[in-house]
Amino acid sequence: MTMAMTAPAHVPAIPTIPDSAPFNAAQRAWLNGFFAGLLNRGGAGAPAMQPAEVATVSSDAEEAMTWHDPALNLEDRLQLAEGRPVERRLMAAMAQLDCGACGYVCQTYAEAIASGEEKDLTKCAPGGRETARKLKELSSSIVPVASVTVRGAPATTVPAPVPAPATTPKGHDRRHPFAARLLKNQPLNAPASSKDTRHIVFDLHGSGLTYRAGDALGVIPENCPDTVGWLLEALDASGGESITTTDGSTATLHDVLLRHVGITQPTVGLVQLLGVSASDPDHAQALRQMTAEDGPGIPEGHEVLDLLKRFPSARPSPAAFVGALKPIRPRLYSISSSPKAHPDDVHLTVAVVRYVNAVGRQCRGVASTYLAERLRAGQKAKVFVHASHAFAPPADANVPMIMVGPGTGVAPFRAFLQDRAASAGARGRNWLFFGDQKRDHDFLYREEIEKWIVDGVLTRLDTAFSRDQAEKIYVQDRMLERGREIWAWLQDGAHFYVCGDAKRMARDVDHALTKIVAEQGGMSAEAAAAYVSDLAKSKRYGRDVY
Ligand SMILES: Cc1cc2nc3c(=O)[nH]c(=O)nc-3n(C[C@H](O)[C@H](O)[C@H](O)COP(=O)(O)OP(=O)(O)OC[C@H]3O[C@@H](n4cnc5c(N)ncnc54)[C@H](O)[C@@H]3O)c2cc1C
Ligand SMILES: NC(=O)c1ccc[n+]([C@@H]2O[C@H](COP(=O)([O-])OP(=O)(O)OC[C@H]3O[C@@H](n4cnc5c(N)ncnc54)[C@H](OP(=O)(O)O)[C@@H]3O)[C@@H](O)[C@H]2O)c1
Repeated sequence: MTMAMTAPAHVPAIPTIPDSAPFNAAQRAWLNGFFAGLLNRGGAGAPAMQPAEVATVSSDAEEAMTWHDPALNLEDRLQLAEGRPVERRLMAAMAQLDCGACGYVCQTYAEAIASGEEKDLTKCAPGGRETARKLKELSSSIVPVASVTVRGAPATTVPAPVPAPATTPKGHDRRHPFAARLLKNQPLNAPASSKDTRHIVFDLHGSGLTYRAGDALGVIPENCPDTVGWLLEALDASGGESITTTDGSTATLHDVLLRHVGITQPTVGLVQLLGVSASDPDHAQALRQMTAEDGPGIPEGHEVLDLLKRFPSARPSPAAFVGALKPIRPRLYSISSSPKAHPDDVHLTVAVVRYVNAVGRQCRGVASTYLAERLRAGQKAKVFVHASHAFAPPADANVPMIMVGPGTGVAPFRAFLQDRAASAGARGRNWLFFGDQKRDHDFLYREEIEKWIVDGVLTRLDTAFSRDQAEKIYVQDRMLERGREIWAWLQDGAHFYVCGDAKRMARDVDHALTKIVAEQGGMSAEAAAAYVSDLAKSKRYGRDVY
């Protein structure tokens, strides 16, 4: 069977079953619907819709999902989901950030796994290995669904039908982003620093968008034009090729690659497509192996361009190529301003991602370099507000806050402190732990922070500059030095917050907090862990980690 290919404005090609295929009208209609749904929801190897576009089984309003709180630890989340259907337990295993890194939100990623439509259990980046392990364990109990193979296309499984969203959102959101003008892009590190962090300001005037301290801003980036150029060269395409979109309109290949699809991370579908299009049998074999059930997987750190370079005989048509990529993914950034201080604009604190990848090629993070290098002041970017579920300053401005935010982790705490500074009569004490590499180069927002101390907004500041001395000093080392005071603040009802790197820092801070509770509270390790877990359940332990 062959499939007719068209590719979309914002989502690439949806294949349809041709009339000549051996199916009756009802079967054809069902299969067309299935493929459209599969491609739109990011099934194996297929382009996925943006997270909020994914249909959901039921809304939070209809069903309480008490585990949907990033502050809770994995065990507590799973406990809250106990006895619920497998898709809810799978959801509870995720980081609950709805960050979109997986191409879904937590609920719809879980549903896609439960339906058999999504095979990749490692997509929850903030949840890391712990989540992946749990997903594997939980999904082993799922009964596999029927398998449909389309000749010349990746094998796939039939998912359970998922109803369309019940309501159309009003105003600007992930599906209807606001075109916000860039007002500022200022370096926050000294020129001699090895880091590049930017203070980014967008104008929200006239958008109707509102936000709260603790929310994040979603940015829909454009890809790097150099990468687009290299891909076109590798595909031997001019970029002017016309790509037909699902809504019947056309766009040039260049435009689709620049604005509409993710062009860095290879999808399983792309590797399968390269495999079937490779004229060199060795290339075809190596590509097939990568996606085989027990194969090695797509080599770590390889981007799409690296695969095209490594397998020069694998050259699919431009339409098929973009059809195998996913729609470009929005990136979230913790908002570093308070609407009380900046009602018409929104501030971000962005670490620019640049690194040399596994094959020695200089790579650039798509969104962070879009914001830092390509978007010019006065130009507009597509943004939306991503409300946080449980990460906000205490409702009572008299309650103390302990904030641990090294590097870009300081972002939401700048917002929290602006919030408190702007709230007349707020008497709550505020304690910030900040860290980065070098005091002279990397003390982000130093002047503002020091002014808050002078003004009495910031009660305490502890800094950990990791590379100012031979031995690394991190924020959790400072916490341990101040264990007695931290315990006293907690006893006074303080809320504890951590923001920044999830993989190492937030985990180590959690261990330090538990150790402090055990030592200062005279508790066993188990009792201390239960105390910290209760802090999270009672919304006194907020985590905004990535
Ligand atoms: C809730 C939330 C809040 C966030 N807040 C902030 C914030 O305030 N500030 C901020 O800067 N970021 C924040 N992030 C992270 C942000 O969303 C993006 O993930 C980040 O900017 C990278 O996006 P990018 O498009 O530039 O990089 P991408 O193009 O997405 O590339 C990132 C990928 O590059 C690879 N990579 C990165 N570094 C290396 C390396 N050294 N070696 C090898 N491979 C590497 C990894 O595969 C990584 O996944 C937040 C994320 C979430 C979920
Ligand atoms: N998902 C993504 O694509 C993405 C994008 C951007 C950032 N991130 C993550 O978010 C983090 C934020 O980057 P950033 O520039 O804001 O700051 P950062 O790299 O986290 O560094 C801030 C400070 O934290 C220190 N640190 C390193 N390991 C630590 C640990 N285990 N515990 C406590 N502190 C530790 C660093 O020290 P040293 O460097 O001296 O060790 C540095 O002094 C990055 O580390 C990265 O992991 C992820």
